[in-house]
Amino acid sequence: MPNSRTDSLAGLAERLGAIQYDADGRLQHLLTLEGLRRDTLEELFALADSLVEVGARSVKNVPLLHGKTVVLLFFEASTRTRTTFEIAAKRLSADVVTLDVPASSASKGESLLDTIANLQAMRTDAFVMRHADSGAAHLVAAHVAPQVAVVNAGDGCHAHPTQALLDLYTIRQQRGGFDGLKVAIVGDVLHSRVARSQLVGLRMLGVTDIRLVGPATLVPQRLAELGARVCHDPRDGLDGVDVVMMLRLQRERMAGGFVPSDREYFELYGLTEKALAAAHPDALVMHPGPINRGVEIASSVADGGRSLILPQVTNGIVIRMAVLAQTVGREAANA
Ligand code: CP
Repeated sequence: MPNSRTDSLAGLAERLGAIQYDADGRLQHLLTLEGLRRDTLEELFALADSLVEVGARSVKNVPLLHGKTVVLLFFEASTRTRTTFEIAAKRLSADVVTLDVPASSASKGESLLDTIANLQAMRTDAFVMRHADSGAAHLVAAHVAPQVAVVNAGDGCHAHPTQALLDLYTIRQQRGGFDGLKVAIVGDVLHSRVARSQLVGLRMLGVTDIRLVGPATLVPQRLAELGARVCHDPRDGLDGVDVVMMLRLQRERMAGGFVPSDREYFELYGLTEKALAAAHPDALVMHPGPINRGVEIASSVADGGRSLILPQVTNGIVIRMAVLAQTVGREAANA
């Protein structure tokens, strides 16, 4: 029997996918993982594998993006994403321009699309963009010239596709694959673009046991529609899982009170060594950063032997190199 909600979600994913591929079926924009082909993810992981030595500077930069200009447009704060995109573009020999957004004419009321049109008039080839508004990267992608690529570096509560890709790549590196994997995503799922992208990617790679763990204010039951089990009891949520993906309380996107206090939140949902004991003994601990020690994660866990928090950051370089190579350099990469 047809299910109109499932059908409309499938239709949306198809449309989102179509926007991201060019007329020849090559990845032009990376806006969200929704609607991407599974083989696109696998190609990005394989390309990242092949770029590890360049990413680590063991060998010289490669000329894949020689002659291309990549503009970094961060309308929201960032440490990891912005810096790793810059390093990634430079490793591929691109010219990199970072717009100082607070000092730009956006502060004089210039619209986002006018800013983009002016930057495009400077013969730029790609925009890597972070914006507080969900859908901002899609808006830009719909207005750029056919040869220009747009990469979403995080839009509102919607998507953070390169973060999810580097998280999935890190799991693949550690575990060799995704078969039979049990994953808990813990914390402020409601406001998290990372969690949404992780969920889409995990499901695309065949993971079926995904739990969203947190208080009802931050993990409402309706989020089960995203294809995961909602758990308000952390012992149930972490029981036997292979991967624990922690999330920060995203106060910048909260309107009102969602937790009684940081102390109580940490007592109930913080990842301490005691809480982690419910997971598989070899469980991996992940966090996209920035971490808030003593709020969602204890220092002993964040800095402990199972933590992949810093390897995730390192993997951000090769994953973003792969994304830039496939999108900005799609003619060369697919030649
Ligand atoms: N994980 C992440 O997006 O970190 P930044 O906000 O520092 O880029």
